[in-house]
Amino acid sequence: MGIDDSGVVATALEVGYRHLDTAQIYGNEAVVGEGIDRADVPCEEVVVATKVWADSLAPADVRRTTEESLERLGLDRVDLLYVHRPIETYEPTETLPAFDDLVAGGLAGHVGLSNFSSADLETARGVLEAPVAAHQVEFHPLFRPVDLLADARERGYPLVAYSPLAGGRAGEIDELVAVAERHDTTPEAVSLAWLLTKERVVPIPKASSRAHLEANLAAVDLADELEPAEIERIDAIDRTEELFPE
Ligand SMILES: NC(=O)c1ccc[n+]([C@@H]2O[C@H](COP(=O)([O-])OP(=O)(O)OC[C@H]3O[C@@H](n4cnc5c(N)ncnc54)[C@H](OP(=O)(O)O)[C@@H]3O)[C@@H](O)[C@H]2O)c1
Repeated sequence: MGIDDSGVVATALEVGYRHLDTAQIYGNEAVVGEGIDRADVPCEEVVVATKVWADSLAPADVRRTTEESLERLGLDRVDLLYVHRPIETYEPTETLPAFDDLVAGGLAGHVGLSNFSSADLETARGVLEAPVAAHQVEFHPLFRPVDLLADARERGYPLVAYSPLAGGRAGEIDELVAVAERHDTTPEAVSLAWLLTKERVVPIPKASSRAHLEANLAAVDLADELEPAEIERIDAIDRTEELFPE
């Protein structure tokens, strides 16, 4: 969300990222497509995810808008196609078979869900033929959806953590600042490393500069260095802030 420069997408791929997350509502699918073209990396290595917005979840609109997304992305197939939010035109028995049809027809590799509650997930599982390939939800130190993480672990799918840097506010979280000082790093790196210690969680930070892109990749190594007491301290933060309530 928010990346409007194909050069940033190309840089992300060149420094090592292989998962690009976009959505119809972000208005930047064409930018992502241009970035893939510009980058000197094999296209088949890149996993592209996009999301069908809440006003386009009637079956005919799912197909039409996905075809438009593919056109903008310059792809024949998107690896992961999400239901962006189960609201507005979302009707499980109508919407989800349309996603299954796109998988059967080869336009989407896998079906993802985003911003679903546990009850919404249960309903979706009862309708979808395709397995739920990923659930994308807000997840950072100030918003920890433990019930959804438990479901992902029990069923064995990735929980994709959006806004993993608390939307750029990691530096305002005292616990992250304290742990960062102990490791001579940044609160942003600690936020990502803390998420990476959690089995099944895949954080998707947004970053606009090469420096931020590289720093966020380096947080993978910090995950091995966090001590259990530091992880527990962040787990126990007594403050909740949801950035994207419905
Ligand atoms: N499914 C959904 O409903 C949904 C909703 C929201 C977001 N998302 C997805 O999640 C992605 C990330 O979420 P987000 O953009 O809300 O928040 P985020 O990744 O938590 O935070 C992004 C902010 O952090 C800054 N930043 C990045 N790396 C940094 C670093 N190493 N040090 C300091 N600051 C750093 C960025 O600044 P710069 O840009 O200047 O680098 C930007 O201001 C989005 O791009 C989108 O793909 C999905």
